[in-house]
Amino acid sequence: YQRSFVMVKPGIFRRKIVGEIISRMEKKRLDILAMKMIKISPKLAQHHYHEHVDKSFFKNLLSYICSGEVLVMVVGGENAITQIRSLCGATKVEDAAAGSIRGDYAVSTTENVIHASDSPESAMREIDLFFRKEEIFAYNMDISQ
Ligand code: GTP
Ligand code: MG
Repeated sequence: YQRSFVMVKPGIFRRKIVGEIISRMEKKRLDILAMKMIKISPKLAQHHYHEHVDKSFFKNLLSYICSGEVLVMVVGGENAITQIRSLCGATKVEDAAAGSIRGDYAVSTTENVIHASDSPESAMREIDLFFRKEEIFAYNMDISQ
């Protein structure tokens, strides 16, 4: 059983496709263990995307991620990290297959709708960055909260 950090990126509430994205995870029987709507500060965005600070696209990435409301979630399940990455589709807009979230909804490689952790290590780091322990539920594990 794994937990992944998922972010529905800015503009998606305005486009009214948040439910559609959550629905794709529920159809895979993944567990939504935490969720909240926030606006990300440049400092938090920099921590979150620390591996990309030196990349040419970093400035665009940062300004997009901080441009509006996002939905952050902790999503759990067997192989959740790989399962959710596969629901998301490829990073580059031209490679994202039809039927994947990005393939169906990405506007560009920057405005690509969704983030999901790429490894168990990044999942742990990202979950810690955005959530307090008390904000994460475990109804799936029969642990009282
Ligand atoms: P995230 O789930 O958002 O982390 O995307 P990813 O894991 O599929 O890709 P990666 O972590 O390598 O890059 C983070 C984000 O930077 C991506 O979601 C893109 O928005 C952006 N990005 C990555 N590579 C490029 C690129 O070559 N050009 C542009 N314009 N943006 C890029
Ligand atoms: Mg990434």
